[in-house]
Amino acid sequence: MPRQLFVTTALPYANANFHIGHIMEYTQAGIWVRFQRMQGHEVNFVCADDAHGAPIMIAAEKAGKTPQQFVADIAAGREPYLKGFHIEFDNWSSTDSPENHALARQIYRDLRDNKDGSLIETKTVEQFFDAEKNMFLPDRFIKGECPKCHSADQYGDNCENCGAVYAPTDLINPYSALSGAKPVLKSSEHFFFKLSDPRCVEFLEKWTQGDDEFGKPRLQPEVTNKVKEWFSVRTNPDGSKSEGLADWDISRDAPYFGIEIPDAPGKYFYVWLDAPVGYLASLKNLLDKRGVDYDAYMANPALEQYHFIGKDIVTFHTLFWPAMLKFSGRKTPNNIFVHGFLTVNNDKMSKSRGTGLDPLKYLSLGMNPEWLRYYLAAKLSARNEDIDFNAEDFMARVNSDLIGKYVNIASRAANFINKYFAGKLSTTNTPSGTTTAKGPVQAAWRSAAEIRDAFETREFSKATREIMRLADEVNSYFDRFKPWQLAKDATRHAELHEVCTNCIRAFQILTIYLTPILPNLAKQAYSTLFGLERDPAWNDLKNLATNIQPYQHLMQRVTSEQLEALFEPAAPVEPAQSAIQSAAFVPSGETITPTITIDDFAKIDLRIAKIVNCEAVEGSTKLLRLTLDVGEGSDAKGNLKTRNVFSGIASSYKPQDLIGKHTVLVANLAPRKMKFGISEGMVLAASHGDEKANPGIYVLEPTEGAQPGMRVR
Ligand code: MSP
Ligand code: ZN
Repeated sequence: MPRQLFVTTALPYANANFHIGHIMEYTQAGIWVRFQRMQGHEVNFVCADDAHGAPIMIAAEKAGKTPQQFVADIAAGREPYLKGFHIEFDNWSSTDSPENHALARQIYRDLRDNKDGSLIETKTVEQFFDAEKNMFLPDRFIKGECPKCHSADQYGDNCENCGAVYAPTDLINPYSALSGAKPVLKSSEHFFFKLSDPRCVEFLEKWTQGDDEFGKPRLQPEVTNKVKEWFSVRTNPDGSKSEGLADWDISRDAPYFGIEIPDAPGKYFYVWLDAPVGYLASLKNLLDKRGVDYDAYMANPALEQYHFIGKDIVTFHTLFWPAMLKFSGRKTPNNIFVHGFLTVNNDKMSKSRGTGLDPLKYLSLGMNPEWLRYYLAAKLSARNEDIDFNAEDFMARVNSDLIGKYVNIASRAANFINKYFAGKLSTTNTPSGTTTAKGPVQAAWRSAAEIRDAFETREFSKATREIMRLADEVNSYFDRFKPWQLAKDATRHAELHEVCTNCIRAFQILTIYLTPILPNLAKQAYSTLFGLERDPAWNDLKNLATNIQPYQHLMQRVTSEQLEALFEPAAPVEPAQSAIQSAAFVPSGETITPTITIDDFAKIDLRIAKIVNCEAVEGSTKLLRLTLDVGEGSDAKGNLKTRNVFSGIASSYKPQDLIGKHTVLVANLAPRKMKFGISEGMVLAASHGDEKANPGIYVLEPTEGAQPGMRVR
């Protein structure tokens, strides 16, 4: 029976673009999801923007936008990251969606109206109020002098200088970070979720400290221990007493960007109340689109629900969220998978700043997203521990492991099979799935269960280590039998055939194992080497290929130049440009790529070209064939030297529209071999980032007077 899985990652705040920490979380969860699907299980993998809260409301105001427009602009910039790193959620929604408004309000009502006694109560709370802005101030927007070390300009909740934790009312000379005004104390009625209720305490102790639905300890051991402390009545280091679980303040007063509390005009849910509800709302949004009944889906007792999150948001996911679900009469999560933080070159990366390694810069340098996926997998375990991106380590893992060990197998063995045996693999060892196969094939098969368990338990570093150990074994097998010598001796060709076949078979097995981590590379290996136009499947282990095609290059090495460029500090940005970036406009559906220097630009040789001929390409609906005069003179026979360029503009132009016109050509682009011939450059054309939604492609044309061959700079 296939398992039914509902999987999420944390919902990122919609106040900034993704940073590398987000990419790590999505990669971790995505690998697990792909693995589960390969096992035949059914997974719904969703995420959404976390849209609400005071910080977003204030940032929107600063940017001169409505909060709705502000978060929509951030949302519009998500695609290049997700696509770029092969992250495939089944749905991406927002906590400001109608589904989430409805669900959050319903969950609240169910908690309030719980038949064994309400879990909601109101209390009067005294809080700092900014009379100029006419709003209550969140802790982070109150500043003042630290009561302990007296350093100036510290936040209302803790001091960045001495680390002291205190209440905003403890600050000396507090002021509002929004208006500068001196805040006044004002009381207001707040709504609380009664986490201290004995029913909650009893349930949560069991849920966090006990076993899961499969009889295994639920949380990771280090998480269990951390959570355990929160239940006990204890004396804090500063002498104060903690009473175990405290009630949770779930309301905020208007103005607030959030969801209004039922029957309480002017009161809104605190962002962390409706944020996790967004998991369910995004799922519901997906199921509605598919015409699947959400309630029926959730009512399935076999449904398993998992949330991947970072270590900083454990309280919300192991206390508030399961309790909200339990006491509103809903299914509780099966587990919360907690990961540590990613640092870059051992620089503690601030969560909100997320500096160090810019994901879009990485992609714009032409660096392969699967290098990063592999590297992260090689470092990730099931433990809640920080991992570091180290440039040298990255280069070593990718170049020596991934390419030097794994890719190397195919590039070494395939040529012999093609040259001497017309691509046919030997049949001496084919018994499908049996263990009669010799050497490396047998070894690779034998590790299947171990590798499957490693993926299942999120021990990805263990999985990659085992896969690379097998790759080592295959390479030494190859070296031991020296196919290059066997090839010289016609009497030993049967042996040659068998040795190389075994290497290719082992390569296919390793490809299957690597598919969750390297979906693209695996697919490419299947297509180019085995002629299979589909994703590798776990079941292929028992049904390996019998033929191969000529080996085509599978993956480039990382260069130190790329890594240098990646970590080169960005050139100081002009104020105008930085304003564009921080306001997060997404011009025509694509964020501006990272800054380059004038030297980078000078590498691109742009020339005026005259379109002397243009024709349709038989067999292609996309391409036109352009013949271009780029001012390169005539050949020995006096014929005009021209260039042949294919351009994907057939949807917007008829050939005769373009003949005689001038345009701009990238004249030093490496020639590219295409199905229809060689393309000797590329003409410039404009289009929207999302061409499906906004079709239209526009070829650039210089104003009158520009001559073929003139450089564009
Ligand atoms: N909006 C909340 C989550 C709500 S879930 C109902 C939030 N957003 S966040 O954008 O700040 O963080 C999103 C996720 O990224 C969290 O799981 C967080 O732990 C993770 N990470 C943030 N910085 C990280 C690293 N440097 N490394 C790895 N993950 C990190 O919290
Ligand atoms: Zn201090």
